[in-house]
This record gives sequence, structure tokens and C-alpha cells, in this order.
Amino acid sequence: MAERPETAVETGISTVLVVGAGTMGRGIAQVAAEAGFCTLLYDADDAARERGFTAVHDAWRRLVERGKRDETQVAAFAERLRVAENIAAAASADLAIEAIFENPVAKIALFRELDAICPSETLLASNTSSISITRLAGATSRPDRFVGMHFFNPAPVMPLVEVVRGLRTSDRTAERAAAVARAFGKTPVVVQDAPGFVVNRVLLPMINEAVFALSEGVAGKEAIDEAMKLGAAHPMGPLALADLIGLDVCLDILQTLHRDLGEDKYRPAPLLERMVDAGLLGRKSGEGFYCYES
Ligand SMILES: NC(=O)c1ccc[n+]([C@@H]2O[C@H](COP(=O)([O-])OP(=O)(O)OC[C@H]3O[C@@H](n4cnc5c(N)ncnc54)[C@H](O)[C@@H]3O)[C@@H](O)[C@H]2O)c1
Repeated sequence: MAERPETAVETGISTVLVVGAGTMGRGIAQVAAEAGFCTLLYDADDAARERGFTAVHDAWRRLVERGKRDETQVAAFAERLRVAENIAAAASADLAIEAIFENPVAKIALFRELDAICPSETLLASNTSSISITRLAGATSRPDRFVGMHFFNPAPVMPLVEVVRGLRTSDRTAERAAAVARAFGKTPVVVQDAPGFVVNRVLLPMINEAVFALSEGVAGKEAIDEAMKLGAAHPMGPLALADLIGLDVCLDILQTLHRDLGEDKYRPAPLLERMVDAGLLGRKSGEGFYCYES
């Protein structure tokens, strides 16, 4: 592995384990390795693990082709990224960031496992979009060293990390998570544990409303997106953004907001539910509100 980098010294963390090598996990692993952390990427699915690892290398190759990084830099990044063949690798992690399916049962089972394997000082973090950090932390013996680190898609590009404080997250843990986010080149915003945190609580109702507007024939998809780009100065329209996030992920978050906040205003648009049932999940499935080349 490369020499212990300065960023690692500042945060007191040198090895980061990322669990889940899907859309988010691979991006978080890329960012961690670029920032100088020894990075382990694990996924329970062998094929997903390899796909995630290859995707990070592909991203680095494209950065070289576009002149954004040189070969030497990318070689150093690659030196710091390793695939973990099994979860036992968590024993060497100073920070474990979970980015598996948005399913509380699966996440709780994983955190119980990580809690048993990781040294007691290891910080546990979840990238969950909507599940309570307090609830996940409660499944471990270290709720004070448990925190939300909510990255945004695509993780290598988006500058924000919501650092989510569970009821028992210590000040020190929140500060360290924020320091890691800064070392990753991100801007942390500390928020309390509440459904949807800040960004999704505000963003998802807008996306949902755009789907209602589409299904009621207020305007077509391109017109809705264009209107929000030009009229609200959004860089991307809400329907194109839903495709980027994943319609299944959008639906999950809305269902959580609806259930946990108990307000009708969060009720998912029936069209969104039907599209998820039909497997039209957005970019990742090749079609959502728009069609994408494979
Ligand atoms: N997609 C987004 O835009 C976005 C943005 C922010 C946060 N999130 C959150 O990030 C998390 C991951 O989302 P994603 O879009 O990357 O999902 P994804 O479906 O692309 O990837 C999830 C990966 O987790 C793996 N996995 C499932 N169970 C596992 C286990 N027990 N151990 C190890 N690996 C396991 C799967 O094999 C899969 O490769 C979710 O909690 C989601 O809410 C997603």
C-alpha cells in the first residue's frame, strides 16, 4: 500500500471499508482511494463486487483520457483500492461505510456482523437515504460511534455529504465523519436524524409532484423538465433526475416519508409505482421517463 497519506493522519482514519459495490458504494470507494485512504470494497455478490471494482478503474481511465488526472496519479489511486473477498476484512477498517440495498432488515443484519468483526474504535457509517440512523445504530454495541454519511449520486461528482447524527451519535463521531467528508473533498452538512434528512425531504416531494403533473397531463416530460431548468434554475429537470437516482430508490424514499411522517403530501404518485413494477427504473435499467443507450 502507498505511504500513509496526510489526510489519513488528520482524520485518524487510514483504512476505509465500503460495503456494497453498486451505484453508490463504487463511487464512495473511488473517492476514498483518490483522497489517500487505503480502501477496501466488499459486496456479498461476487459479480457485483467485480463490476464495482472494474467500474472504478474504468472511471479512472476516462479521467486520464480527458486529461483530468495523469497516469501516475491513477496508479497511486489504484494501489490504494482493494477488493475484499469477504466481510472478515472489516477487522482492519477504521471506518466502515455501508451502501447496500435500502432495506432495514438487511442493513441491521450487516451492522450486527460489522459490530462483531470491527475493532471497538472503528466508526460505523450508513449511506442510507431514508432509514433512521438511530434505529441502525441501536442494532450495534456502539451507537456513539455510529453515524450517517449520506453521499449523493454520482458520489465522485456531488460535493455534499449529509452527516447524520443519530440520537446517541457522539460529538466526536460527528466531527470525525465531517473530517473524513472534507478529506474526501466534500462539504459536510450536519443534520439530525429525521426521515429523508434534509435533501430528500425537500427534493422527493418535488420529483413526486412532477410525476403527478406528468400523469395528469399538465405537460409532457420534456416540458416539465425544461420548465424546472429554466424557471427554477435547476441544472436538471425533476424527471431526468428521478431517472438518475433510480425510480425504485425514489419510491422507497417516498414510502418512508409517507409512513414515518404520516402526511398525505408524501403519497407516491401511482405512475411512479407502476413504472417500478414494470422494471422501468431509470438509467440503471436503460429506461425510465427517458430511454438510455446501453
Ligand atoms: N442511488 C442513489 O442515487 C443513492 C443516493 C444516495 C444514497 N443511496 C443509498 O445508498 C445505498 C445503496 O444504494 P445503491 O443505489 O448503490 O444500490 P445498488 O442496488 O446499486 O447496490 C447495492 C449493492 O449492495 C449489495 N449488497 C446487498 N446486500 C448486501 C450485503 N448484506 N452485504 C454486502 N453487499 C450487499 C448488492 O449486491 C449491490 O451490489 C442505499 O441505502 C441507498 O438508499 C442511493
